[in-house]
Amino acid sequence: MRVVEVSEPGGPEVLRVVERPEPVAGTGEVVVAVEAAGVNPTDLAARQGMTVGDSASPPYVLGWDFAGTVHAVGEGVDRFAPGRAVVGMVPWYAVHGRVGAYAERIAVPQEWVLPRPEGLGAVDAATVPLNALTAAQLLDRLPVRPGSQVLVTGASGAVGGYAVQLAVRAGHRVTAVAGTGDEEWVRGIGAHVVLPRDTDYSGVGEFSAVVDAVPVGEALFPAVARGGKVVSTRPVADAPAGAGIVQEVMLVDLDLPLLERLVGEVAAGRLRTRVERTFPLEAAADAHRAAEERGRRGKVVLTP
Ligand SMILES: NC(=O)c1ccc[n+]([C@@H]2O[C@H](COP(=O)([O-])OP(=O)(O)OC[C@H]3O[C@@H](n4cnc5c(N)ncnc54)[C@H](OP(=O)(O)O)[C@@H]3O)[C@@H](O)[C@H]2O)c1
Repeated sequence: MRVVEVSEPGGPEVLRVVERPEPVAGTGEVVVAVEAAGVNPTDLAARQGMTVGDSASPPYVLGWDFAGTVHAVGEGVDRFAPGRAVVGMVPWYAVHGRVGAYAERIAVPQEWVLPRPEGLGAVDAATVPLNALTAAQLLDRLPVRPGSQVLVTGASGAVGGYAVQLAVRAGHRVTAVAGTGDEEWVRGIGAHVVLPRDTDYSGVGEFSAVVDAVPVGEALFPAVARGGKVVSTRPVADAPAGAGIVQEVMLVDLDLPLLERLVGEVAAGRLRTRVERTFPLEAAADAHRAAEERGRRGKVVLTP
């Protein structure tokens, strides 16, 4: 069976399709036949050798998000049987490429996998786990109550897009910063005020709750109220001393019950996702090139 390996850290050309032995389901594990694997910015960074915690040693396999069908189950697996449609997430920073979603089949603990609701296709499903979980967990860290004003950057992207939708659903008033020319989509997912990508943050007001999904970092500090909090997806510069801005960088946690709720919301059409393009496994390098382009309208997904 084929996987996409990073042969050495570098550009898209270091992605190689290679044969590996068939994965076997160990105790408590399921083998999933992967039909779709999302391509995320963290994969692009990991391909270049940039990871959180210990670095991965090549060759390693990329990919957090996967959707497909259960192919085999190991001893002690009680939640799944072969043939079940599933979606799941590899907590990649914990395993560093020992297993990754860019593969025809993967063996993973059943705790990384959920039944995939009927009507939710594999390609759409593979855009959900990492990004919807991150958005929900970012919002959870903000000092908000229904009616709060929330600022979200990167709102046309995956994390920002879910953050906008979840914040609107929670009853907040959302000001969202869109990507290039993508204001219409951001309005469509419910943002109350939509600002362009090149927004000057000194003129947008002061927010006590900010999801910096891009992250934009210090350019948006003028938009943060004294005592306000900014949660971001990656480390950014410290706010000026004395500005009274609380900052937190968050790393996603694979919270399966939360993920089940979010996947259910997407399946029911209450949370929207977008796919820009799919690529077969052997075109993984082209998929990474496409994912690195600005102005995408949704996720790039591999279809092994
Ligand atoms: N900490 C964690 O656990 C975690 C989890 C998931 C993701 N992340 C990180 O979160 C970030 C976003 O991920 P994603 O999957 O949402 O990415 P994505 O789907 O590529 O979306 C990024 C969006 O941000 C827009 N953008 C870029 N620069 C901008 C700016 N200066 N102002 C406003 N919008 C801007 C982009 O628009 P253009 O097309 O115009 O560039 C794009 O629409 C990445 O850095 C990713 O690594 C972290």
